[in-house]
Amino acid sequence: MELSERALSVQASPIRRLTPLLLEAKKRGITVHHLNIGQPDIETPKVFWDAIKNYEEKVLAYGLSDGLPELKSAVVDYFARYNILLRQTDIQVTTAGSEALLYSLCLVSDPGEEVIVFEPFYTNYNGFGTIAGIKTVPVTTKAENGFSIPSAEEIEKKITSRTKAMIVCSPNNPTGHIMSPEEMERIAGIAKKHDLFIISDEVYREFTYEGAKATSFLEFKDVEDRVIVVDSISKRFSACGARVGFIVCKNPAIMSYALKFAQARLCPPTLEQLGALAAYRMDPSYFDPIRTEYQNRRDALIDTLHSNPEILVEKPQGAFYMMAKLPISDSDDFASWLLKDFNVDGETTMVAPGDGFYATKGLGTDEVRLAYVLNVERTKRAAQILMKGLEEYKRKKR
Ligand SMILES: Cc1ncc(COP(=O)(O)O)c(C=O)c1O
Repeated sequence: MELSERALSVQASPIRRLTPLLLEAKKRGITVHHLNIGQPDIETPKVFWDAIKNYEEKVLAYGLSDGLPELKSAVVDYFARYNILLRQTDIQVTTAGSEALLYSLCLVSDPGEEVIVFEPFYTNYNGFGTIAGIKTVPVTTKAENGFSIPSAEEIEKKITSRTKAMIVCSPNNPTGHIMSPEEMERIAGIAKKHDLFIISDEVYREFTYEGAKATSFLEFKDVEDRVIVVDSISKRFSACGARVGFIVCKNPAIMSYALKFAQARLCPPTLEQLGALAAYRMDPSYFDPIRTEYQNRRDALIDTLHSNPEILVEKPQGAFYMMAKLPISDSDDFASWLLKDFNVDGETTMVAPGDGFYATKGLGTDEVRLAYVLNVERTKRAAQILMKGLEEYKRKKR
């Protein structure tokens, strides 16, 4: 028996592939600080839990494939706050942003075709690309340019007759970059010129700092027929385990095919949609203290890391991640070593090796991705342990 090429070639997520080492460290009694994964410790809103507790049906039945109409209506109201006017038919509830991503890729491209990604990128674009049989073609963004979108010429060099779409993410995981309207115009222009789709991953829309604002691709009228927005409640309402997300798209034809995909998997989770509905009905001021909290965590992490001039890291404008360049050549080895061979008084820090956030071989091997999802004290402690680890690792590897 032979397994498929896609099974044999799919990547292990760099965010999760060190889990066996994590479990062993925990077994040895080590406390592990997680800077590797975007799992916030912000409490899921009480209204979310209450909605689930108050569920009174006797049977937890299948729901509609495109989601609860009440939730879609609440999402229409949510986008209206951003002056984005949608119909319920422009929204499909998915089993989290992950399913929305996979569907979007499969809606616009066939096996063997290509999708442009801006690296470093959310690592699972690679995984979903492989599952869908699609090649992710990287355009590299650089820390020295604030990870901004490169020139049209640079992007166009990567476009072939097989290219079907570009995936963008703003606010960005893993760089924290927020695309300016000019960068978005550039993407829109290329999409029109080369007849491409734009898959816009906007799951971090609220997480912007120091007055920065994230613009949605849904605001760009002249490309609205070719834009598919991927959205999710995982980070928005700190409800990662709920598995509720959305495809938002103003092109009725695309939505009709998305519905066929959705029918194959029957429906998204019912109880969690009820929780999401309650969360979407909260006043938008809910986000204010949370935004401040993330900004404080970002500053704590940056300030601690900046005390070592060998660590190169840009202050991110949004989301809750940063890519840090370290004075090492193999960040996978370093991240594994932190879990296997290092601790400070029984504590260590887990980081995500940088290479999995790139599609270009060899890039990211001196970088780690850090998530600032722990409270300020714990973030500082985690960063200090990371820096002590870095010093010892360099001494040992010399
Ligand atoms: C940029 C980005 N898109 C999509 C997702 C998928 O989120 P979920 O499947 O939890 O909705 C994540 C999760 O970390 C992410 O960072």
